[in-house]
Amino acid sequence: MSKQVIFKTEPNGILTGSIRVTGDKSMSHRSIMLGSLAEGTTEVTGFLNGEDCLATIKAFRNMGVTINGPENGNVSIQGVGLNGLKAPADAIDMGNSGTAMRLLTGVMAGQSFDSVLIGDASLSIRPMRRITKPLTQMGATIETNEAGTPPLSIKGNSHLKGIHYDLPMASAQVKSAILLAGLYAKGETSVTEPAVTRDHTERMLRGFGYEVITEGNRMSLQGGGKLTATNIDVPADISSAAFFMVGASIAEGSDLTLEHVGVNPTRTGVIDILRLMGADITLSNEKEVGGEPVADIRIRSAKLKGIHIPEELVPLAIDEFPSIFVAACFAEGTTVLTGAEELRVKESDRIQVMADGLLACGADVTPTPDGIIIQNSQLSSGEIDSHGDHRIAMSFAMAGLCAQGSIVINDCENVDTSFPDFIDIASKAGVKVSIV
Ligand code: S3P
Repeated sequence: MSKQVIFKTEPNGILTGSIRVTGDKSMSHRSIMLGSLAEGTTEVTGFLNGEDCLATIKAFRNMGVTINGPENGNVSIQGVGLNGLKAPADAIDMGNSGTAMRLLTGVMAGQSFDSVLIGDASLSIRPMRRITKPLTQMGATIETNEAGTPPLSIKGNSHLKGIHYDLPMASAQVKSAILLAGLYAKGETSVTEPAVTRDHTERMLRGFGYEVITEGNRMSLQGGGKLTATNIDVPADISSAAFFMVGASIAEGSDLTLEHVGVNPTRTGVIDILRLMGADITLSNEKEVGGEPVADIRIRSAKLKGIHIPEELVPLAIDEFPSIFVAACFAEGTTVLTGAEELRVKESDRIQVMADGLLACGADVTPTPDGIIIQNSQLSSGEIDSHGDHRIAMSFAMAGLCAQGSIVINDCENVDTSFPDFIDIASKAGVKVSIV
């Protein structure tokens, strides 16, 4: 790692005013992928200028797609059509991004040329058999290393055929990889999911004029169609907004508005969970933009209480648990999370890494195989290791609002993957956090 970024917090911040956090990561990735595979020019606004999404842009540029930007969130993509990509000269580096790697594998499985996908140290130990297994059933040939982890070597000219696949875990990345491969497959490709997961792929495919049928928990499409360029307005990322929902809830005297946030019902579990804990969150200015609901979200500080988090909300808040754990420390009583073993295979093992960090700050927490138990705790000062996980780093920046002293957060460079101007926006909102 070339740079070492360390955050340090000071207590007693109050969050006020109005901010717009960076663009949605899931939609930004998908806008580049579908825009590249479409016929015509796609204009994107609100694009997330974070390292993960820039890696996706680079990947498609390396396959011959002309992409201008991002400049102030604007990206222009000259689509080459579903069969217009060219073989990249080298391995495609997806950096830290599981989403980019898994979705792109679905696309690459349908190409006429071979490709190799690689990632950073964190991505290189993440499980990929969850996508290689269904894609292999579709006719793809994909090699992983022995542990089922990257690099992924994908053979071209595989003549995919449609399958039906029952997802063994609630994963939008796996669902999306299969549906994207399905664009290239003969006949129908369908999946059923065990619980609702984010549906940006289905919505965006429809936005590009491709028919995707959703019947309950089953999604299907027919291969062999085409994508037609469209314009995409990417709203602010609810996963980035979540840090501020937690911060404003726990920091007494706060009254903060988050503007133009994506509130797709497959992503709003964090709002439901915080409300169940007693948070004061109101939505206004609700509208639909480009097939995705958006709203302004106002959060006023409130006295929180511990809850047993309903398991059906877990996939709808899967990226927000690090910050929800912070909220739980300041909630009266006990908070219990179960059914969340997926947290162990994110950018870090988010159950263990959060437990270690919170323990280092004096909290009373007990990790379990599929969740955590958190007691109401007074956080002291402390030093924690984010293990290069952006969401761990930003969650502890919010914990610092109500700790007794400073929290030093090590290994924060990957905040740039999803929220490059986090320190500026957090400071503007009233969080006392700086780079040491
Ligand atoms: C994402 C899906 C989720 C989420 C990730 C983004 C997506 O992963 O954690 O940050 O954009 O499809 P899983 O599908 O593995 O749960």
